[in-house]
Amino acid sequence: MTNPVGEKKLRLAERMSRLGTESAFEVLVRARELEARGKEIVHLEIGEPDFPTAPHIIEAAAHALRDGWTHYGPPAGLPQLRQAVAEDVGQRRGIRVDPAEVVITPGGKPIMFFTILALVDRDDEVLYPNPGFPIYESMIQFVNGRPVPYALREDRDFDVDVEEVLGKITDRTRLIILNSPHNPTGGVMSRATIAALAEALAGRDVFVLSDEIYNRLIYEGEHVSITQFPGMKERTIILDGFSKTFAMTGWRLGYGVMRADLARQVALLMTNSNSCTAGFTQMAGVAALRGDQTCVDQIREEFRRRRSVIVEGLNRIPGFHCPMPRGAFYVFPNIAGTKRTSRALAEPLLTEAGVACLSGTAFGAWGEGFLRFSYANSVENIQKALERVENWVRKNL
Ligand SMILES: Cc1ncc(COP(=O)(O)O)c(C=O)c1O
Repeated sequence: MTNPVGEKKLRLAERMSRLGTESAFEVLVRARELEARGKEIVHLEIGEPDFPTAPHIIEAAAHALRDGWTHYGPPAGLPQLRQAVAEDVGQRRGIRVDPAEVVITPGGKPIMFFTILALVDRDDEVLYPNPGFPIYESMIQFVNGRPVPYALREDRDFDVDVEEVLGKITDRTRLIILNSPHNPTGGVMSRATIAALAEALAGRDVFVLSDEIYNRLIYEGEHVSITQFPGMKERTIILDGFSKTFAMTGWRLGYGVMRADLARQVALLMTNSNSCTAGFTQMAGVAALRGDQTCVDQIREEFRRRRSVIVEGLNRIPGFHCPMPRGAFYVFPNIAGTKRTSRALAEPLLTEAGVACLSGTAFGAWGEGFLRFSYANSVENIQKALERVENWVRKNL
């Protein structure tokens, strides 16, 4: 059998049919195609800070390149960066972290893949948020684990319902994935929620993958990590990195913090896949963590400003209701009042109004009735997008 361009049908391994995707990248590709045909689009689909990386971090990378940091390095990461991460993660969360508990990876994303690969056997159950980052479910399915979604609801400010999570734990539960601040809702788990969860998990043989990649982008309240509660650090893998905090998405630099024996296994997965993370980017990572932190404060304050603009603007649109999120750089307005499904609204917003956003269902079935807008764009562009969405809705619905 051949396809339209005459290629013989590709026979893939069965596991590939279980692999999902991240639609932000697909919407970006479609938006770019429309742009190539002359349509002007405001991009509020992709989750990446639009700021340049701070000059002192770029300088450190350039310096490292000139100094010869152009070779293979240790699979678990350079000792300098593992040390800097151990100190930074430990200090920010008030826990003790040893460099042997740190693995450096190209972006934070591989930590999802590697820890799920390392811990989840066939038919092991993994609890994860829905709506939530789509790669969690994709990876669970890929390794033949059983995905068990738990809901994040608007009426709880998208905080976790501990009773629901506990009700879903069985003898087969191997891993619980938490993500706070949360993509796509901007929700932040409260201290009380995390404390209740930690208490209920005491004595159970369940690991937690705590995706804390947005931990420094919180506008009200504080970041609480489940690792701060008695007995939890040993059973938790923290996922964090440089992409969001330091506007370094394209550098591909992240890390996981986990017990040392698991860290050695994750490093082995690095040996088998990437070999190592690029040395000069790691040296830039040391500069990012040890250097002046005002760049992080500036990014956060600019996001705070944009958050007010977008929330206020969305709440003016008929059929939209947008609560004020406390973290990350996403808003997740409820669009049930428009009487359209999320997809049926996101599509014409892209093709007709020229605003790229994501359907809530890109983050799981329970994202129906919502859209996700990333406010990682200038206030000017956000205002332009709001005007376009409002005009389109008033004209068409
Ligand atoms: C919740 C969440 N976790 C992890 C990541 C991965 O970040 P990176 O691999 O760029 O460090 C992202 C990126 O969008 C994210 O939204």
